[in-house]
Amino acid sequence: MTLPGPTEWGASNGVGPWATEHDGPVPDDPRYDPELLRDGDTRNVVDAYRYWTRTAIIADIDQRRHALHIAIENFGNDANIGGVVRTANAFAVDTVHIVGRRRWNRRGAMVTDRYQRLHHHQTSAELMSFAAAAGLTVVAVDNVPGSVRLEETPLPRQALLVFGQEGPGISEETKAGAELVVSIAQFGSTRSINASVAAGIAMHSWIRQWGDLNHAW
Ligand SMILES: C[S@@+](CC[C@H](N)C(=O)[O-])C[C@H]1O[C@@H](n2cnc3c(N)ncnc32)[C@H](O)[C@@H]1O
Repeated sequence: MTLPGPTEWGASNGVGPWATEHDGPVPDDPRYDPELLRDGDTRNVVDAYRYWTRTAIIADIDQRRHALHIAIENFGNDANIGGVVRTANAFAVDTVHIVGRRRWNRRGAMVTDRYQRLHHHQTSAELMSFAAAAGLTVVAVDNVPGSVRLEETPLPRQALLVFGQEGPGISEETKAGAELVVSIAQFGSTRSINASVAAGIAMHSWIRQWGDLNHAW
């Protein structure tokens, strides 16, 4: 049997109140939220989570999170962080680490940050200590001298992928602490691609290597 994929999900604007005539008896499963059942559910969540409480959704994702951690440096208030968090949520990344400023622009996250583990670190040195204690291999992602091609490099399973910010790119501290620096091959005139796009490409490289597609939607 083929499971319904994204093109069959439909109902992108959500669902109305639970209707016993087509939906059957009102579920008494505690994962369901009585208010959403009564009023409808217009949240940006996959259909499998329709009417579920946020706590139940997080608990369900928590059981399936990947070994992958990612980090983004935010010393200059990078506008890409929301997009990075949204992609990390889509790939059920274990934790998104934000280094530097605590404040970040949540707009691009489209509320996905509510379902994603986030961890703040004051400095890159603090992030490196966290990675060492957690047994994660630090992989800096940037097209800098000494980097190897992401396309040709196996990524470790217990990995922390670190992305730099627009302008300065990855910090010297992270570069020095990383076991591996990988770059994404480019062919045009621009010196670099958008950090959020680069993060999506790198996360997907990890997923292609380690993700179990039997557990994808
Ligand atoms: C816009 S770049 C800034 C710096 C870039 N090194 C430069 O020379 O312009 C911001 C971040 O996006 C990611 N990035 C952009 N292009 C990349 C590429 N081709 N390969 C790997 N990472 C890239 C890196 O994490 C980088 O720190």
